[in-house]
Amino acid sequence: MGVKGAFGRWSSYSLVLLCILGIYTTPAVSVKKENFKTCDQSGFCKRNRAYADTVTSTSGFKSPYTLEPASVKFDHGVLSGTVIKSLADGATVRLPLTVALFDSGVARVTLDEEKRKKGEIDLRHGSKARKERYNEAEKWAIVGGTKLSSGAAMKAVGKVATSVVYGPESKFEAIITHSPFAVEFRRDGETQIKFNDKAFMNFEHWRPKVEKPVVEKKEGEEAPPEDTTGEDESTWWDESFGGNTDSKPRGPEAVALDISFPGYEHVFGAAEHTGPLSLKETRGGDRKYSDPYRLYNSDVFEYEMDSPMTLYGSIPFVQAHKKDSTVGVLWLNAAETWIDVTKSTASANPLSLGIGAKTTTNTHWISESGLLDVFVFLGPKPQDVIGAYSELTGYTQLPQHFAIAYHQCRWNYVTDEDVMDVDRKFDKHRIPYDVIWLDIEYTHEKEYFTWDPMTFPDPLTMQKQLDGHERKLVYIIDPHIKNTDNYPVVDELKSKDLATHNKDDNIYEGWCWPGSSHWVDAFNPKAHDWWKTLFRYDKFKGTAKNSWLWNDMNEPSVFNGPETTMPKDNLHHGQWEHRDVHNLNGLTFVNATYNALLARDKEEEKHNVRPFVLTRSFYSGSQRMGAMWTGDNQAIWSHLEASIPMLLSLNIAGFPFAGADVGGFFGNPSKELLTRWYQAGAFYPFFRGHAHIDTRRREPYLAGEPYTGIITQALRLRYSLLPAWYTAFHEASTTGAPIIRPQYYVHPSDDKGFAIDDQFYVGSTGLLAKPVTVEGAESQELYLADKETYYDYFDFWAYEGPGKEKVAAPLNTIPLLMQGGHIIPRRDRPRRSSGLMKWDPFTLVVVIGHSGDAEGTLYLDDGESFDFQEGAYIHRKFAFSTAAGSLQSEDLTTAGTSTSKKVKAYLASMAQVHVEKVIIVGAPSAWQSKAKVQVSETASGSSSSATKDVPFEFVAKDGGKAAYAVVKNPGVAIGAGWKIQF
Ligand code: GLC
Repeated sequence: MGVKGAFGRWSSYSLVLLCILGIYTTPAVSVKKENFKTCDQSGFCKRNRAYADTVTSTSGFKSPYTLEPASVKFDHGVLSGTVIKSLADGATVRLPLTVALFDSGVARVTLDEEKRKKGEIDLRHGSKARKERYNEAEKWAIVGGTKLSSGAAMKAVGKVATSVVYGPESKFEAIITHSPFAVEFRRDGETQIKFNDKAFMNFEHWRPKVEKPVVEKKEGEEAPPEDTTGEDESTWWDESFGGNTDSKPRGPEAVALDISFPGYEHVFGAAEHTGPLSLKETRGGDRKYSDPYRLYNSDVFEYEMDSPMTLYGSIPFVQAHKKDSTVGVLWLNAAETWIDVTKSTASANPLSLGIGAKTTTNTHWISESGLLDVFVFLGPKPQDVIGAYSELTGYTQLPQHFAIAYHQCRWNYVTDEDVMDVDRKFDKHRIPYDVIWLDIEYTHEKEYFTWDPMTFPDPLTMQKQLDGHERKLVYIIDPHIKNTDNYPVVDELKSKDLATHNKDDNIYEGWCWPGSSHWVDAFNPKAHDWWKTLFRYDKFKGTAKNSWLWNDMNEPSVFNGPETTMPKDNLHHGQWEHRDVHNLNGLTFVNATYNALLARDKEEEKHNVRPFVLTRSFYSGSQRMGAMWTGDNQAIWSHLEASIPMLLSLNIAGFPFAGADVGGFFGNPSKELLTRWYQAGAFYPFFRGHAHIDTRRREPYLAGEPYTGIITQALRLRYSLLPAWYTAFHEASTTGAPIIRPQYYVHPSDDKGFAIDDQFYVGSTGLLAKPVTVEGAESQELYLADKETYYDYFDFWAYEGPGKEKVAAPLNTIPLLMQGGHIIPRRDRPRRSSGLMKWDPFTLVVVIGHSGDAEGTLYLDDGESFDFQEGAYIHRKFAFSTAAGSLQSEDLTTAGTSTSKKVKAYLASMAQVHVEKVIIVGAPSAWQSKAKVQVSETASGSSSSATKDVPFEFVAKDGGKAAYAVVKNPGVAIGAGWKIQF
């Protein structure tokens, strides 16, 4: 949220007045577009779009970039050479090129600028900024997958092109055309991705500023003609916007490239935006955008729907998808970036009337500064691309178990008594929740690492009460540190010189919640060391072990800064300009907090727990540190609707631990909207209710019936499915797979589903949800892609795919189906918090598919510590076969029978946790007369098994409702090997 604090209090008083007068409705608010640049107002974006236009309209245009054939070398998986840029005056610029091929099958193309690498440039205004192009994005974003390929080989070196084969079974090939410089990527001989095919590549080289003589206009004479032959220099040397001037000590330095995906109709990704999952075209026209997608992490107050405007975070990764093929690129650049998307359709045969026509998607990437650095993924499956991207940027953190349960937040719970009261009321109404949150008002006058002594005199008692039911507290700490007297935190920040500097290399000062503030420079490793000291329990007194963190405003948000953030010519550690690193800023801060929490518990308490941190700003790699949410949405239906494609877009971009404020941040939701939002939120990977300070209280128990009851059901549904969610998180944390999955990911061959982004699958469970996002809905139409039976989750009504199915969806119903062929683990006993479910028994729901089989997995561990890394976990595969008439539980652990104490202790602690029920949906009618089944269990470490009879109940098909059967109390341990014979 931006520049609104000033009216915050006042507006709450006026709100009360309006409510009393009975004339309050949620106001329609809208973004102040004028506070944020359009491409036209962003010099380098405008220049590069204009360049593209010139290229397109100039027949025979030749891109001025050539790879010097003699410079090409290939060594240990890396091709290197020099690209020469020819200038109009005959001069040339040398751009060192590397094409690295990794074992994983990923290729990386990097282009630098020789003069800047060598530091042979002059900076203007006596700037102390670095001379190189920013080359440290990888230090923050990339953590693996860069082992160079030993199998990659240079295939052909000709005068015209050089080619390299690489990847699995050498099926991939990069063909580098020398003049003009262009790269084509092929898989199995077929072109997938092209660089500079449209000749939009533009590498703005360093040049000194040449002062042009001012030609004076004499009286009576005509004005001198404008220089129309040269380039538009108006934004090369400085640039003003909204009263701020950016000094640009290095002049123009943008990098741009067109990347085409021939034959691909859809591109997904480039999060974070509010539009549909399948990216729209951006060069104007009916239902298209006229501005490129922008990536410049910003605090966009009252952001708008269906827009390419930037938001709080950036993931410069896109995937292109067509039937049975997915490919992708990661544009590793942390500066302000714009992406134009256009599509062109070429008919295979001009007489075919569009049949067999192929759409090609073209993307044009434009960044203000830094290297040209692109990673290329050749698929062919969606998971191949997402998996390789996740290996590079890190897998999502396996969170503590509480973190995937329900979080209750608002700005603000005003006293420690208030917190304890809300906690008691949840219990009184038997509504489960795990975490209560404190927003900025808990502090003493917005000084982080302090408590307001008047309102939070006894925070430890508050945390103790929460701990009584295994509940947690999350409190907020933002990166702006109040610039005031008698505040040791700011004194240390200054005396240790750990804050971000301004362009003159002095400590930078700006405005945020506390008023005048300084910003922790988390690019500085020393700032991380210092940050660690602040979270120690003995330093921030009043924090207990069940307290965790929320990092907000880390774009960073600066109320009086250009576009509500820092000036681009500010300086960070290493003398890098803010311009170069902007989109990484949020990531570095969360990284510091994550490390601080690790240190707090590990070093000090010898307690090996996984930190929890929520962030608003993010970049590729932030998923390693915790969760994100979509910032300040509004309590209106369109924001509920948009939350689903927004979260899907993050899920396919390696950052699945994502959520949106349930209920909507600004404004007061109607009870119906609030209820629907909880039903949708129960399917967000990160599930938190939150509200602005000016809104009315809206804890679920305040809604009244039937709403409170329906919301409670939605929360209980989330809690009972936590084993399935945790298993999905485990999968994400080891493979990068999305937690909520769009159609194209699950059904990559079904082109009818590629653009669908309002329904999704949960992990590998086969659960298909389509939350209601429109007012007054009574039903919902779901799209079933495959020839399979889908059963209603609640009453087992059977639907046959493929096709569209209408599912009843009155207010008390969440449209939720189970795809045949899966086994879903649940825990059905209602508890106050997820921590209290630790020893609860399991229910397994076997959903028989067309093949007669079903399969599912369950991952479990202590839900807190890192002991799982040593093997202290349970990982089971359940397999059902109608033909064999059996359901079996098999071990999937890779650690084998570990002798480690921790592993033994964990497994022993789980020995008494049983399966209490097995439900078989779509049970064969032949089972009708069965009264019992045989259950055999093999105790761990033993090969013999004991067999017993267990009662069995069969319920026949009832109209459209499928037959089902229930095995009651098979009594088998969840961690053991066992078999049920039907
Ligand atoms: C920002 C956050 C919001 C928070 C508020 C006060 O607007 O996005 O969630 O409540 O700041 O800290």
